[in-house]
Amino acid sequence: MKILCLSGSLRANSSTQIVLNQITSTTLDDIEFVVYDNLGKLPHFNDSQEVPEAVANFRKALTDSDGVLIVTPEYAFGVPGTLKNALDWVVSSGELVNKPTAVIVASTGGENAMHALLLTLRAISANISEKSTLLVSFIRSKISKTEVTDGDLKLSLQRTVNDLIGNIRTVQP
Ligand SMILES: Cc1cc2nc3c(=O)[nH]c(=O)nc-3n(C[C@H](O)[C@H](O)[C@H](O)COP(=O)(O)O)c2cc1C
Repeated sequence: MKILCLSGSLRANSSTQIVLNQITSTTLDDIEFVVYDNLGKLPHFNDSQEVPEAVANFRKALTDSDGVLIVTPEYAFGVPGTLKNALDWVVSSGELVNKPTAVIVASTGGENAMHALLLTLRAISANISEKSTLLVSFIRSKISKTEVTDGDLKLSLQRTVNDLIGNIRTVQP
């Protein structure tokens, strides 16, 4: 089972990356985490008939995955532009339609990004179960420079990923 992981942050020393590392360093039977780290290479969305290579690669990575895990901060009360741009590229092509998807917003607050991201994902018919969303506020107090230090957060991350895996198994019995 392949889970494609998308990060909403391109920053060096990203807290999102630390959260993602915590998840992907966990060994789970039959689960392969693939971190897609080319979101920053996608051109700004346009609807020309010619599909840029970076966009084709992104769409294929989504198609080849059994589920998608999005981990993102909130920037300026919204979804980071890089992530929103990537989602705009699959509105009409449909790679996220019915795709089991989990959303983790890890930020100082994060409520606005969570709300906006769920609106977007529902608009493109991603399959998001109730427990596959996790809002982590005050993220900086729950990590060190290199790892997640908060025990409750570690458990919540595990639960969210387990729910995503359960959702994938439901659609692919
Ligand atoms: C440009 C910028 C804007 C931010 N705006 C918000 C915001 O509106 N709401 C919020 O909860 N946190 C905001 N933050 C704080 C980030 O959520 C926090 O620093 C987080 O750890 C950043 O994640 P990253 O290190 O993975 O990029 C902002 C941070 C940056 C750099």
